[in-house]
Amino acid sequence: MRTRAAVATQAGKPLEIMEVNLEGPRAGEVMVEVRATGLCHTDDFTLSGADPEGLFPAILGHEGAGVVVEVGEGVRSVKPGDHVIPLYTPECRECPSCLSRKTNLCTSIRATQGQGVMPDGSSRFTTLDGDPILHYMGCSTFSNFTVLPEIAVAKIREDAPFDKVCYIGCGVTTGVGAVINTAKVEIGAKAAVFGLGGIGLNVIQGLRLAGADMIIGVDINPAKKEWGERFGMTHFINPKECDNVVQEIVEMTKTPFDRIGGADYSFDCTGNVQVMRDALECTHRGWGQSIIIGVAPAGAEIATRPFQLVTGREWKGTAFGGARGRTDVPQIVEWYMEGKIEIDPMITHTLTLDEINKGFDMMHAGESIRSVVVY
Ligand SMILES: NC(=O)c1ccc[n+]([C@@H]2O[C@H](COP(=O)([O-])OP(=O)(O)OC[C@H]3O[C@@H](n4cnc5c(N)ncnc54)[C@H](O)[C@@H]3O)[C@@H](O)[C@H]2O)c1
Ligand SMILES: [Zn+2]
Ligand SMILES: [Zn+2]
Repeated sequence: MRTRAAVATQAGKPLEIMEVNLEGPRAGEVMVEVRATGLCHTDDFTLSGADPEGLFPAILGHEGAGVVVEVGEGVRSVKPGDHVIPLYTPECRECPSCLSRKTNLCTSIRATQGQGVMPDGSSRFTTLDGDPILHYMGCSTFSNFTVLPEIAVAKIREDAPFDKVCYIGCGVTTGVGAVINTAKVEIGAKAAVFGLGGIGLNVIQGLRLAGADMIIGVDINPAKKEWGERFGMTHFINPKECDNVVQEIVEMTKTPFDRIGGADYSFDCTGNVQVMRDALECTHRGWGQSIIIGVAPAGAEIATRPFQLVTGREWKGTAFGGARGRTDVPQIVEWYMEGKIEIDPMITHTLTLDEINKGFDMMHAGESIRSVVVY
């Protein structure tokens, strides 16, 4: 069939909107009509050419929601008409990683997904001239129709609005999941969140949901103070207006009883390795945990004095918020539908597919929290 897509023809060039050919689903695959897709920093990272693993030409996009229109041989868990969210972190429930119960990083289709092809080694997308176009993160939601492995879709309730729950395909789950699954934050905790963008604001609302007492937001953009407060932030620090963020957080978290101070949990949502260091060092001696969510530039390394860890601080990282997609994503959709988490105010811009490059411009200018393309 033919479908309309925004194609990344080469690094550093705007996406090109065009008709492409899409082959139907093969065994174990499903075809999804994407109804809406968010624009995430990771798409931009790849499109810019900064991603050393980026491949072109490809159809980017990994934050979608849509409807199953056709299933390949052997597919049992979904059927045409089911509403789904594509998963860039699949959940096969059979590989050593899934069976370990220690990680959400399913490894069953990792190699082919990284090469931009389906598990059988081929792409379903071609140009109208017949040249192959690669898939991206196993999702390619910048195409109106796409094909995915069955294990890479989460079935969700049918009354959930596509133009909002698509954000659960990456940003919401990453931020909320980092709090609930990775840090396992407890009621009454004190936390610091570095970087209040599309991910950091979701960490903040995750902390509110978990019952944290103190939610300290840190951002160099003063406009983010209001945004943070909107979702539960209790204190704000602009690093440009204070001498030492680490010391400031340690002081703020002291109590008459605890003169040591430090955050119980901190989260890096910037991808800046110096910020990652501050995030670790502002946590409490003996038990502080710092979670890295941000994706650093290629080749960047983190540093701290080992004494920081010897004295009980822990450094952790999280991908897709530690969520097992087919199991946890439908639950997060429930939380949204029940009003436990918010999404609507974070979607600051809605665009057509033809306007998709404008969405990336607004991301660069810091004008948007999330832009969503509605098909
Ligand atoms: N681990 C994962 O699974 C995962 C998933 C999605 C995105 N990410 C990554 O998360 C990071 C954040 O994404 P986003 O969409 O929220 O980005 P964003 O650009 O919307 O937000 C980043 C925020 O950090 C602030 N900031 C920048 N430098 C800072 C500094 N030195 N100190 C304090 N604040 C600073 C900016 O002002 C901005 O508000 C990116 O690196 C992205 O690639 C990771
Ligand atoms: Zn993303
Ligand atoms: Zn698996």
